[in-house]
Amino acid sequence: MTRRLPVAAAVLALVLGACTTGSSNEVEVFSWWTAGGEADGLEAMLDVFSEEYPDYEFVNAAVAGGAGTEARAQLATRLSQDDPPSSWQGHAGQELIGTYVAADQIESLNFLYDEEEWRDVMPEGLIDLISEDGEIYSVPVNIHRANVMWFIPENLEGWGVEAPTTWEEFLTVAEELDSQGVTPLAMGFQWTSMHLFETILLGSLGADAYNALWDGSGDWSSAEVADAIATFDAVLDYTNEDASTIEWDAAAQLVVDGEAAFQIMGDWAEGYLKSKELDPETGFGWAPAPGTDGMFQFLSDSFVLPKDAKNRDGAVAWLKIAGSQAGQDAFNPVKGSIPARSDGDRSLYDAYLTSAMDDWAADTVVGSLTHGVVANDAWKAEIDTALGLFLSDRDPDAFQTALAEACTAEGACS
Ligand code: GAL
Repeated sequence: MTRRLPVAAAVLALVLGACTTGSSNEVEVFSWWTAGGEADGLEAMLDVFSEEYPDYEFVNAAVAGGAGTEARAQLATRLSQDDPPSSWQGHAGQELIGTYVAADQIESLNFLYDEEEWRDVMPEGLIDLISEDGEIYSVPVNIHRANVMWFIPENLEGWGVEAPTTWEEFLTVAEELDSQGVTPLAMGFQWTSMHLFETILLGSLGADAYNALWDGSGDWSSAEVADAIATFDAVLDYTNEDASTIEWDAAAQLVVDGEAAFQIMGDWAEGYLKSKELDPETGFGWAPAPGTDGMFQFLSDSFVLPKDAKNRDGAVAWLKIAGSQAGQDAFNPVKGSIPARSDGDRSLYDAYLTSAMDDWAADTVVGSLTHGVVANDAWKAEIDTALGLFLSDRDPDAFQTALAEACTAEGACS
């Protein structure tokens, strides 16, 4: 007895010690960056963090699933159990404001914007998208472009085709590719078809009419939306048969392997292609998604500070790195995005990314649906349900009616 008590006490002290040390030092960052390129980008930013804050232990709580499909579901469960990570990835725009701010789950970051003088270096329009009632709620790390078409130039040459600039041209090229046994367009899980659809909507309607769909002044029942749906329907016929069972990076790999010719995907695909040792221009090529030249359909990944954050100081330290020039210039060249800050070091960015910087400055900028900018989660979920039905029944009229109803149901359209 007398000998066992001290041992038990020592074990208890050890366990308690481990718990206290663990929880006070750990900075648990939640994201969905697990694929080639995006995981490497996170790693690069983490190196900057670890160098600046060696006493914190970074816990990478990334959950696989492009566009956050799986991660966001798991995050919602954790938040409902009052178990937030130290910080999580959220898209600037309605995803942030309509979900986390609406549910009062995150802190205002005005204090950090003052301290770090971020108002001077982050675009005003972007700050507006992450603000409500004068409070700024997240730290954007990047700007991604959604409306990009990716391909391997050498493969196109071998098949004797060129990258199409309109969907009409695509359908002609697709026939040719199809006759050679090549899948014209690589697609993946349902979210990638929403991604495709939003670029077709933009290309068909143009920037103003596309924007109008989201602010309630547009008409989801219009002939122009019907045309976009008809194009989407025709394009879907030229996608891979296993689309519904593969992730975006596996779809990108079909292009790399020469099984498919094109992919419409955000520029995290460039991070993936570079992770496969392909170089911009020589190894892979890109073009605006058909019909969207001069338009930049954007989204931005940002990080938040939860209310009652686990290790709040550590979380703030992470946010400082995410918003810093050093953090962004380590992350973005690998991730395939451009810095949210306006003072990134251009010399660190490759031919694709510098072209994206130029386009971001010159093009008409609109927001992405799939990646949280233009519609809140409830509205997006209704669109997603309608899209799921359309992918199986391919009934364009029913799809358009459901889209119009979704806008009304969410109060955006009267
Ligand atoms: C987007 C996100 C990107 C990238 C992509 C694929 O929603 O903004 O950073 O991770 O999903 O997972």
